[in-house]
This record gives sequence, structure tokens and C-alpha cells, in this order.
Amino acid sequence: MRALIDRLAEQRILTRDAFKLLLTCEDAYLQERAREARHQVYGKQVFIRGLIEFTNYCKHDCYYCGLRCSNTTVPRYRLSLEQMLDCCRLGYDLGFRTFVLQGGEDAYYADDDALIDILQAIKERYPDCAITLSVGERSYESYQRLFEAGADRYLLRHETADAAHYSTLHPAQMTLESRKQCLQDLKQIGYQVGCGFMVGAPGQTLDHLVDDLLFIKELDPAMVGIGPFIPHADTPFAGEKAGDLRLTLNALSILRLMKPSLLLPATTALGTIAPDGRELGILAGANVVMPNLSPMDTRKKYLLYNGKISTDDDPRYCRDVIDRKLQAIGYEVVTARGDCIDL
Ligand code: 5AD
Repeated sequence: MRALIDRLAEQRILTRDAFKLLLTCEDAYLQERAREARHQVYGKQVFIRGLIEFTNYCKHDCYYCGLRCSNTTVPRYRLSLEQMLDCCRLGYDLGFRTFVLQGGEDAYYADDDALIDILQAIKERYPDCAITLSVGERSYESYQRLFEAGADRYLLRHETADAAHYSTLHPAQMTLESRKQCLQDLKQIGYQVGCGFMVGAPGQTLDHLVDDLLFIKELDPAMVGIGPFIPHADTPFAGEKAGDLRLTLNALSILRLMKPSLLLPATTALGTIAPDGRELGILAGANVVMPNLSPMDTRKKYLLYNGKISTDDDPRYCRDVIDRKLQAIGYEVVTARGDCIDL
């Protein structure tokens, strides 16, 4: 196993079979090498992103997601610009220099103007901050306009790089092809792009995970968001089991070795399946955490899955907890935009 891990660290790619072995291995050396790779680029610094979940309306019906349009039990909300600016003000005071604006695919924002107003208002007040958008699939022209209005980064998980598997997670009108086109468009426009997938999504095989790794190698994104799948009671996948902690940590370590400069969050989903999940993620090679800055009264309305952590804790408290937890394992949360240092 050590020889494989060393080879990955040196060549940044492996054969399919070797990837499969590493994904399921239990050798602590994988994490050690991943940490070493991360320390060479980012030291012991952890970047923080303030997540603002600004709309939970969604026109899509993804089988795994609690915000799917068929879920009529969710009270829907959309934050006003004032509310979003309040989140940013609090976040800025807490040391956040990246705001992640995330939402469902809300028809209200179908034409770009409302999003452009938001981007411009935030950039005007906080020109030293980066803005990450995560609002799903849009046209090239729309991505272009949003980029020009101030969006620096874009998160759009590809969910799975296998088209047949993709079609078992989404209704027919959504395709992997269109998802990949969006990611290409975003890259071409000049965004720092993030793709990603859920570990343990229903129907996922080890081969699918290898396909994800190879797709990421080819796309060469600045960020990759991965976390375990966690079932939501009001979705068709309610009875499915959650993704595995070890498999998720191994995937993080492998990605770190494939691209040492990657921005790799220890996700909320990881912190949800294990109490120390985010610390374990950092120790496996992750270098980003994304605490929630959304208003307290909307938190429980943005449940992609059940059991999501931090829905009762205010941003100041979350920031303190993360500071302490990361300090305890020898890492330091920093106040910085935290752009990808592409080597
Ligand atoms: N479990 C874990 N992650 C989920 N996401 C959506 N639903 C779930 C779930 N049930 C992830 C998807 C999406 C991101 C915003 O959240 O990968 O892209």
C-alpha cells in the first residue's frame, strides 16, 4: 500500500485498480502523505467561508435532496438583499473574507438582474472579499454576466461522473452532459470552479468513485466539495444508508495527493455523520471549512439531509467552536480570501 501511496504523491495519478485499493485502504500513511502535501502548499492554515443559504426554492426534484420541489413539507423562503448584507456584515466582523451564496434553482433569480444587484452590493461594501456562487445550472451568458458583476468562484457539484448513475439520482430533464457543459463554461469564463460528489450516494460503486477521480483529474478544478450522502426523510432515498466516514476521508486524501493546491472543504455533511468529522477531514488533507452565516430562523428550512449540524448555533459561536477544535489538532483558522494557489 505504501508504494501505491508514494506513487500517487509523485505522479498524481494511478490506475483504476490502484485507485480502488486506496479508496478502501485503512493505512494511516495515506492521510500522512496527504497532510504533508497540504502542508507544503498551505501550511497549517485553514480557510473559512461564510455560507449564506439565501433561497430554498428549487425547481428541481433531485431524489436525494430535501429541498426538492416535490417536498411540500418545507416552508420556502428567500432572503432580502438587506438580510444578506446583514449576514455579510456579521461575517466580515468575524473574519470571513469569502461569502458563499448558495441556493436552490429558484425561478425568481432566472433572469440575472436580482443576483447582479446582490453581487454588486456585496462587492461595493466588501471589495476585499471573494464571492462564491452556488446556484446551479445557468447559460454561458448568465455565468458571464454574474462573473462581470463580481462573482469570483462557482460551486457546482457534478454529483457523479457516470451518466447512467447520474440518471438514477435525478429526474430525466437533468443530464450529466449539461452539468459538465456548465463546469466547462464556468472555467472558460475565468471562475475558480468547484465540482464534487456525495460519497455513498445510492447506487454508487467503487468504479463510480474512480470515474469521479478521473473526471476531476481532467477538469482540474480549483475546489472539490465532497461529503457523505445522508438520507432525508421526505425524499425517495429516505430508506437508504448514509455514506461511509472512512471512504470519505480516503477520497479527501487521494484528492489532496492528486492536486496538492486544491481547495478542499471538510464539509458540514462530514461533521454530521461524525461529531469530530470536520477535524478528521482536516487531518485527512482538507483545508477549508464553511460555517453557516444564514439567519438563525432560516437554518431549519435549509435541510438537504436530516441531522444537519449547527442549525441552532449562531455564527459567532460556530466560529469560536471551529477555532478551538482546529487549534486543538494543531491548525489555525485564518482571515484571508483563501484563493487557490495554483502550482
Ligand atoms: N446528503 C448529502 N449531501 C447532499 N446534497 C444534497 N442532498 C444531500 C444529501 N441528502 C449535496 C449535493 C449538492 C450539495 C449542495 O449538497 O451534492 O450538490
